[in-house]
Amino acid sequence: MKITIFGTGYVGLVTGACLADVGHDVLCMDVDADKVARLEAGDIPIYEPGLEELVTHNTASGRLSFTTDAARAVEFGTLQFIAVGTPPDEDGSADLQYVLSVARTIGQHMNDFKVVIDKSTVPVGTADRVRHTIGEVLEQRGASLEFEVCSNPEFLKEGAAIEDFSHGARIVVGTDSERVRELMRDCYGPYIRLQEKLMFMDVRAAELTKYAANAMLATKISFMNEIANLAERLGADVEQVRRGIGSDPRIGYHFIYPGCGYGGSCFPKDVRALTRTAGDVDYQAELLSAVEGVNQRQKQTLFDKLERAFDGDLAGRTIAVWGLSFKPNTDDMRDAPSRLLMESLWRVGARVRAFDPEAMDECRRIYGQRDDLTLAETREAAVEGADALVICTEWKVFRMVDFDWLKDQLGMPVVVDGRNLYNPETVRRAGLMYYAVGRGDSLHQPV
Ligand code: UDX
Repeated sequence: MKITIFGTGYVGLVTGACLADVGHDVLCMDVDADKVARLEAGDIPIYEPGLEELVTHNTASGRLSFTTDAARAVEFGTLQFIAVGTPPDEDGSADLQYVLSVARTIGQHMNDFKVVIDKSTVPVGTADRVRHTIGEVLEQRGASLEFEVCSNPEFLKEGAAIEDFSHGARIVVGTDSERVRELMRDCYGPYIRLQEKLMFMDVRAAELTKYAANAMLATKISFMNEIANLAERLGADVEQVRRGIGSDPRIGYHFIYPGCGYGGSCFPKDVRALTRTAGDVDYQAELLSAVEGVNQRQKQTLFDKLERAFDGDLAGRTIAVWGLSFKPNTDDMRDAPSRLLMESLWRVGARVRAFDPEAMDECRRIYGQRDDLTLAETREAAVEGADALVICTEWKVFRMVDFDWLKDQLGMPVVVDGRNLYNPETVRRAGLMYYAVGRGDSLHQPV
């Protein structure tokens, strides 16, 4: 099949590379000429395991190509995926200007039947707006051409996107057209394991499914963080509680890890956007607002714990930070807990020495050169001369630590662990004060 993808960001690029890899002819269009030139040269602007090989291999085989030429892109595929960004507006709702601009482009250049597929995460009702926009442009052109608009949201996790694409739990397609159902079956057909998982539903249900899935996962995390905060105050160990409740299959073990709050490009944005959507239809989404509120507070707990450990005296201190990305296996720092922590530390006059296996370039890009930020080459170099250590991301490289060595490095024996990586007993035995998440107040003191 001939497939066009608008947008070579995270979702567009993964979708394009994966569909090319199973034999489709894919043309990815982006308005950013630099980005297209880089992609053509095999230079992938994002870090995602396996993506570079997939793009290079399929570009070489001729099945995957890139363009800035909108007319050519529209002409190319019968399927036209829209995978451009939907950044949040000031009020938290999704900004649809890029999606609707692609819709206009398709309307301007199409000359035969097209299926326009919303892949970007877009509010319920967007497919109708895309349909309306294309219809308007066609009318202005005096062209009477057939087209369909359907919703096919992505459920990719950063760091595992390629695996998710080919082994995902489901492919949701929102459409009421049999012709579209046939074409989408052909599109995903080569993914044998996915054929059974194609789920057709109406357009609005598909659009809401995406938000509901992310909101549900975010809710599980905020719920667990709430229980962790309670456990902390009640002297209980939330890790034992987690195992206790996860063993009930109705609850399950997934996504109930307490931590320093969820980040990334999806959960924070989507929970806020769904809350806004609810407001637009005069519904007060109280649970969603609470999920967001608990998460904000949770991100702040790293700083609060440090402040408590230092009796509020953090000015002039140097704090080592392990992990900058919002989760392991990505360099993405969007809404990462590390950012709120570092910004709070800088505000009170503390310095940061940070290490992350992948996100240091991203950190430099965001914060530039500053006297109160040192990016260390290794985790060991980050703790050199630091007063305390905070762990923000559960990268594998942080899991094994010689705590006697760590104690010798730190000016104060304080470890704030936002990811519950260690056995509190082991850390305490080295004489460190261990502030984890929800592991009981009694665990903070060295033995
Ligand atoms: C998420 C969804 O999982 C994916 O289906 C959707 O398409 C996009 O949003 P992603 O943002 O890549 O994917 O990250 P994910 O692995 O889901 O983690 C999100 C955040 O939740 C991270 O900050 C992570 O640290 C946090 N998290 C996750 C917890 O704090 N506890 C958990 O138990 C699980």
